[in-house]
Amino acid sequence: MQELEAFSIRLPVSLSAYIVCAAPKSTGRVTFFAPRREKPNACYLHPPSLPVVCRGFSTLLRARWGAVIFDDLRAIQLRHGFLPKAELEGLSQRTQTPLYQIHGVASFYPHFHLVPPPKAEIRVCADMSCHLNGACELRADLESRFSNSRPEDVQIRDVSCLGRCDHAPAISINDHIFTDVTAAHAERIARSAMRGDDIHEPHPEQARIACKADPYGDAEKYGVVRKLIQSKAWDDVLAQLRAAELKGMGGAGFPTSMKWDLVRKQRDPVKYVVCNADESEPGTIKDRFIMTNLPHLLIEGMIIAGLVTGAKRGILYIRHEYDLQEEILGEEIGRCYRAGLLGKKILGSDLDYDLEVFVSPGGYICGEESALIEAIEGHRAEPRNKPPFPGQVGLWQKPTVINNVETFINVPQILAHGVDWFVAQGAGGSRGLKFVGVSGHVTRPGIFEVAMGVPMREVIYDHAGGVRGGRQLKAFAPSGPSSGYLPASMIDVRLDFKALAEAGSMLGSGAIVVCDDTTCMLDMALNAVRFYRNESCGKCVPCRVGSQKMADMLARWTQGGIPESQYRSDLALLEELSQAMSLTSICGLGQIVPAPIQSVLKHFRAEVDAHVLQSRCPSGICFTAASRAGEAQRVGIRP
Ligand SMILES: Cc1cc2nc3c(=O)[nH]c(=O)nc-3n(C[C@H](O)[C@H](O)[C@H](O)COP(=O)(O)O)c2cc1C
Ligand code: SF4
Ligand code: FES
Repeated sequence: MQELEAFSIRLPVSLSAYIVCAAPKSTGRVTFFAPRREKPNACYLHPPSLPVVCRGFSTLLRARWGAVIFDDLRAIQLRHGFLPKAELEGLSQRTQTPLYQIHGVASFYPHFHLVPPPKAEIRVCADMSCHLNGACELRADLESRFSNSRPEDVQIRDVSCLGRCDHAPAISINDHIFTDVTAAHAERIARSAMRGDDIHEPHPEQARIACKADPYGDAEKYGVVRKLIQSKAWDDVLAQLRAAELKGMGGAGFPTSMKWDLVRKQRDPVKYVVCNADESEPGTIKDRFIMTNLPHLLIEGMIIAGLVTGAKRGILYIRHEYDLQEEILGEEIGRCYRAGLLGKKILGSDLDYDLEVFVSPGGYICGEESALIEAIEGHRAEPRNKPPFPGQVGLWQKPTVINNVETFINVPQILAHGVDWFVAQGAGGSRGLKFVGVSGHVTRPGIFEVAMGVPMREVIYDHAGGVRGGRQLKAFAPSGPSSGYLPASMIDVRLDFKALAEAGSMLGSGAIVVCDDTTCMLDMALNAVRFYRNESCGKCVPCRVGSQKMADMLARWTQGGIPESQYRSDLALLEELSQAMSLTSICGLGQIVPAPIQSVLKHFRAEVDAHVLQSRCPSGICFTAASRAGEAQRVGIRP
């Protein structure tokens, strides 16, 4: 590093992250733009077997100031464990970048620390599935266990969904995630971190799970790409995707063939393919499963997208809590380079395609496609105004295909088996297979591969084992907070885009969260609204201010004692606020904030009335010390 420093003032800081990142273990060809855990008591490159190569240099050095600053910040945090003010000022002078711009990026992402972190930073996931599984109580217990500790030794805070909803409650300690934890277990790990011991998230060895979606099984993989390289039948791919009516699985359900066609038609010689593996909405864990068990199918889908649209470079954007999946994908990408399936002249053809992994610096909003692009470019992850859409003006202003993990794996399935096979996989007129995560109050939380179109009853009862402890089903969210809650009486709704939309909900990302009859639905609506409030990027007023107003209003409702006339005006104001947010928020986050409370008012109105008008929580959740502590926990989650 000293030698590098002699070169120039600018390079060493930028490169030092990569030098560490590239260390002797580098065997594959994956660029990790976002190495994580720049904490003094945690390892920087983890796990050690990760194949990493520093192919990002040239890209970064060509990139705009944003990306370079982004990387410089990581290097500073690596050295100090946080971002000292003097270092930021030095960086500002060296790079001739205004300090406010540097601070703007540094303060945006949960990944960066502007103050020294404590020896043990405990973060308790406070979102839906963990909330249903005792997160509030866990946090209260931990606070009492560490009540005599100094803030420089231990701090306890909430955190948004950690992507382990099937093993709730989940916590992170110094960015290492632990699941199904008890307070005693968490205390042991935290005390170990306070002593300076190395702590690590356990990754038990697990055999890959065979999936119906895998057209290859034990046979040679990447058969579709091999054939496509020979035939170059790009239009035929688009025709098959169109005939299959493949829709995006990231939430919006946009037709994939239209998106790819748009990018294909753009004249720009530089195009990109981006895989959105950010999956940060509470309850959403299906992409984690797919990346663990079908990494080859995801990579094959991304290669096909590149070949069809003319993009020569793919970027797999993955949330930073998925380090096991990073490792799996890193190994698979390495294998593809060695087999000539990636890189220059794929399989001896005249076609090139490179694939890299970008680890997200964090935040639910990074999953919004234009915010994700901003994050890759090294800016604050604030969604762009649309149009133009990424298909025309995307990453680095170039035409960009962005698809969800599950969308990409559907492509080789359709091309390998044919459209008829794909159509036949669905139930009740729906098409294809679907991966869903089921969490909350179920006997067997997990991820299941089912036919698209099966009734929810089948998913919740046959696959996830039904409501645990012999209790009754009260409600379920078909897709995390954004889908709102449906009552038990709607359990036979089919898992399908249209059927769920007709039921007033959405298929979304297939994140089914189940609530038993002990659940307070007003409390669950408040939990969902607080999630959005915490994750709002703050760029536009309706969402930034509206989500806070809505959270305040619902919190007041959970405390009861409101005169009827005030309740009526609250309801009118809520309606007005909901409309304003849905119509004027820049992105889907602000537009969906009202969904949870609207669904609760529609299906569980008597329960809300009981809180507000009679100061009574029919489930005995609100009006307790724990519920009041809950609000204190949620406010100011990000300092
Ligand atoms: C706040 C917000 C978060 C999102 N998070 C994700 C995500 O984690 N993964 C995802 O694939 N799509 C997510 N989306 C949807 C993406 O913006 C985009 O529509 C999707 O990646 C497109 O892929 P698809 O057509 O294959 O569904 C999110 C949207 C919003 C508004
Ligand atoms: S709607 Fe919310 S998350 Fe989306 S841009 Fe506006 S403030 Fe940001
Ligand atoms: S890990 Fe807690 S809700 Fe997802």
